[in-house]
Amino acid sequence: MCGIVGAVRKDTSAMPILLTGLRSLEYRGYDSSGIAIIEDKKLICVKKVGKVAELEKEIAKDVYSGKVGIAHTRWATHGIPSEKNAHPHISTEDVAVVHNGIIENHEQLRALLESRGYKFSSETDTEVISHLVHYYLSQENDLFSAVKKAVRELSGSYAIAVISKNAANQIVVARQGSPLVIGLGYDEMFVASDASALLSETNQFIYLEDGDVADIMREGCVICDKTGKSVHRAPVKSELTAEDTSIGGFHHFMQKEMYDQPEAVKKTIESAMKNGVIDERAFGAKAHSVFRKISSVQIIACGTSYHAGLAARYWIEPLADLPCNVDVASEYRYRNPRFRKGTLYVFISQSGETADTIACLNMVKKENPDAHILSICNVAESSLTRMSGLVFLTRAGKEIGVASTKAFTTQLVSLLLLTLMLGRIRKTISSKKEKEITKKLLTLPEKIEEALNLDSKLRALAPKFVSKEHCLYLGRGIEYPIALEGALKLKEISYIHAEGYQAGELKHGPLALVDENMPVIAVAPNDSLAGKLQSNLKEVRARNGKLFIFASPDTKIEKDDGTEIILLPEVDELLAPIVYVVPLQIFAYHVAVLRGKDVDKPRNLAKSVTVE
Ligand code: F6R
Repeated sequence: MCGIVGAVRKDTSAMPILLTGLRSLEYRGYDSSGIAIIEDKKLICVKKVGKVAELEKEIAKDVYSGKVGIAHTRWATHGIPSEKNAHPHISTEDVAVVHNGIIENHEQLRALLESRGYKFSSETDTEVISHLVHYYLSQENDLFSAVKKAVRELSGSYAIAVISKNAANQIVVARQGSPLVIGLGYDEMFVASDASALLSETNQFIYLEDGDVADIMREGCVICDKTGKSVHRAPVKSELTAEDTSIGGFHHFMQKEMYDQPEAVKKTIESAMKNGVIDERAFGAKAHSVFRKISSVQIIACGTSYHAGLAARYWIEPLADLPCNVDVASEYRYRNPRFRKGTLYVFISQSGETADTIACLNMVKKENPDAHILSICNVAESSLTRMSGLVFLTRAGKEIGVASTKAFTTQLVSLLLLTLMLGRIRKTISSKKEKEITKKLLTLPEKIEEALNLDSKLRALAPKFVSKEHCLYLGRGIEYPIALEGALKLKEISYIHAEGYQAGELKHGPLALVDENMPVIAVAPNDSLAGKLQSNLKEVRARNGKLFIFASPDTKIEKDDGTEIILLPEVDELLAPIVYVVPLQIFAYHVAVLRGKDVDKPRNLAKSVTVE
């Protein structure tokens, strides 16, 4: 959601690294941004509403020379996007705080601090932190100790970075439920909510744990855990490089990421193969013994990752012969679910930092400390992977566009690999069948490449949607989650209202919406449900609805004046969802570009939803 970056440098050049960091974090939140640095024992703060570019313009008007600074890009939770509400929040011209997360007891703390004479200038929950730190700092003049005392009074989630004008070589940070990493430089130190913000400076990171408070100085850092004990957290070398986060020759990150898909899918499959066969240890050293014991699967995720889970049910139940439930994390955590022994809990998340998904994992662990937990995640050092017994890493590479694309296709691949492993261990898939499926799986990057070749055709289709306000996506069986995902892509980046439906549900309500102004997109490979889908599409044509059908080369669907058919590569029914989603992504992209929308940073959204 919001992004944090901070630097303790050896020379007076904190500002450029803070701006570079903010630019790379902007995809996480982009309604306002701000920077505070310490210059000659003075706290200087600059904030601007809008994109980081607005802040850069403001900063370019002056010269800033400070060794220590913190910066923030905001995604509003408490209070509208405004300069007052932008971070850093300052107390008494002395303490500056940037914060990701939500302070749940901010109202009580605000009343308490007001009674102590503090004046508030924003509507944010964050401002209580700056005054609280100032309150303790004024008592004992030690920033590290003041922050430790202040965080004890906070409930909710936070990653914070704090500076004080009288502590000119120091940033104090704390983490509870929101990610924070310390970047290790040569004779200088950095901090960020996401390692990618610091890749221009270092690839060595310390990942803080929940409850940690750290005192960061140029020459090193001291970390205390939630009990207050000093702890050593081992540095980790990140595999990410600055190139992983560059846009290449593309117009948008989303466009680049759609084109990354053949490679991302290939890497994900290859990461699980050993000597030409899929290796169950790709899911973790204990995968075999866990998979042997399970009698049901419960998938939990949000958004696009949830759609991947929904699709997986159509593989897991018939092929691995296991009951499989799929839930949205924000619902699962509050519906008092029954916990059963023998359930494999599968958490799917691109970022591995989604607050609701992590809350579900904590809930499952609390209920049953021996629960079998598998996370499918794209970020090796994320909170989710560090909390899970079994982990499968998708090899999508860094995903920056807010609309998830390559993470989704690699999640689908991982879930199909999981199905094969469950089927192998449970003996519901013969080795002959496994070999056949593996062989087909290896052709997937090529098939996705062919689907990407439809780009110019899909761009040509976009003008037909540019002035539409509503659109229906239909699919049956495993193509239903693909219809949901296609609709999500269109709505989130073009702001056209789009709904995904099971085609068989049409006449139970949504058919009432269909007339000559309602475009209907159908995901229609030549699978076992193709005939049924065809009948549903006839119901649409009978009401004059305009059909846009994504179909197999040998489709039986008849074309008429109100029907546009987009032919996809021939692909096996099992793999079809992974290929058919690609043109839906490209199509949504072109419609959004044509409508002049900011494709990579859609309004009101942010990458990585670290608050509830
Ligand atoms: C949509 C999208 C979101 C995410 C959701 C979960 O394009 O990206 O719906 O899928 O916020 O995020 P992760 O997968 O990081 O848990």
